[in-house]
Amino acid sequence: MLLARTALPEAPAPARERALRLLDRRLGGSKVLSGREACDAYARDESEAIGRVPDAVVRAASADDLAVALAVARETGVPITPRGGGTGRTGGAVPLAGGIVLDTSSLGRIKEIDLREQLAVVEPGVVLAELQARVEEVGLFYPPDPSSLESCCLGGNVAENAGGPRAFKYGVTRDWVLGVEAFLVGGQRIHAGRRTRKGVTGYDVTGLLVGSEGTLAVLGDVTLRLAPKPPAVVTLLALFADVRRAACAVQEITGAGLIPRCLELLDDETLRAVRRAGNPIDERAGAMLLIELDGDPAACEADAERTGEACVAAAALDVLVAKDSAQRERLWAARRRMSPAVRSLTRFKLSEDVVVPRQRLVELLERNARTCERERVRTLTYGHAGDGNLHVNFLWDDDDELPRVSAAIEQLFRDTVALGGTLSGEHGIGVLKAPYLPIEQSPELIALQRDLKRVFDPEGLLNPGKIFPALGHGAC
Ligand code: LAC
Ligand code: ZN
Repeated sequence: MLLARTALPEAPAPARERALRLLDRRLGGSKVLSGREACDAYARDESEAIGRVPDAVVRAASADDLAVALAVARETGVPITPRGGGTGRTGGAVPLAGGIVLDTSSLGRIKEIDLREQLAVVEPGVVLAELQARVEEVGLFYPPDPSSLESCCLGGNVAENAGGPRAFKYGVTRDWVLGVEAFLVGGQRIHAGRRTRKGVTGYDVTGLLVGSEGTLAVLGDVTLRLAPKPPAVVTLLALFADVRRAACAVQEITGAGLIPRCLELLDDETLRAVRRAGNPIDERAGAMLLIELDGDPAACEADAERTGEACVAAAALDVLVAKDSAQRERLWAARRRMSPAVRSLTRFKLSEDVVVPRQRLVELLERNARTCERERVRTLTYGHAGDGNLHVNFLWDDDDELPRVSAAIEQLFRDTVALGGTLSGEHGIGVLKAPYLPIEQSPELIALQRDLKRVFDPEGLLNPGKIFPALGHGAC
């Protein structure tokens, strides 16, 4: 069953006790939390996954501390799970086998912003919104924008290859990482990648580590590419009678060659949640597109005009332009708070982040509506329609409903793959989607990835139980 399989066996008690002693001795007591109460909050993240309360939490204050913690894990055979802001949606930072949690969130220095080379070097605990504000002060721009940007950390963004609304124009985190410092189990430090725009030396180890969900190495400093800050931004809100018409508008807009930086879809149930949260949205609307364009002011204005026309061609009920930056910020704040707003509607929620080719969006939504009707499961959908990346949410209040929710989720994944899509656009596989990986990937591809994992982590100590169906803390 979906949520019951999250815990893995712990390492033997003598090994865990030895690990605690070594951590205390080498790092000093102030950096090491132990005891159930102090470590309790580290058993979970922002997903429904619940792990074991770890024996120790290392609050790293320097890169050397990362190396020490990883060396202790290797010496004692105790599992270790890296953690940034704890905002993951698939349980990436949840310690399934307990052991050590390596908290990187205190490594929060922006070490460098190089205007000429347009790059930044950041420690893994830098909060995304802080980096964005700092680079924008000097006329630069870091586009990836997961909704948790006020609390998520760059290390976690890179580990999960985070996306966000602006990915439609600017791509996901991977597209902005030039290089990483990484620490292997055992504590060895490697530097992968580069500071230059171009570079093809050797295997793309940086690319492999980005999105590896903390299963191959723990990230230290990250070197990020930056862009010039776009001088103008226009935000539009288009209302439609139903989601089919909104999806047609997405086709019209992209078919006209327009590339808004964001093209977000909200379905009727989501709009109900938005209204309940105090945002008055026209009651006739059964779907909404939140569209944002950026660039040169004149071109931006002209593109906004054409985008509005494309929406009208798809039978928009209304197209509104945000009047000023305050109004724009209010719209985006409502959009970013969507996940917590939806969570408040129900006791349990799982938010998937499947991706299908844009032309198949409506088909996927219709298939999911049929499944949820059959299984009597509440669902609502919003997300990054320009990318074909939808957050299909399943809501339930009672444990008895879990088998039906599991059936609906599995059907969603089967439909997604049948329509030419993929299980995750930005949240990763983590623990919650691990059982479903074989729906998308062949046994040969999964075996190759398990082999890669063994090269980095032969004993399976680093973030066990993630991505691949879990077999035990010693398994990878
Ligand atoms: C969002 C998160 C859930 O798009 O990915 O709000
Ligand atoms: Zn998202």
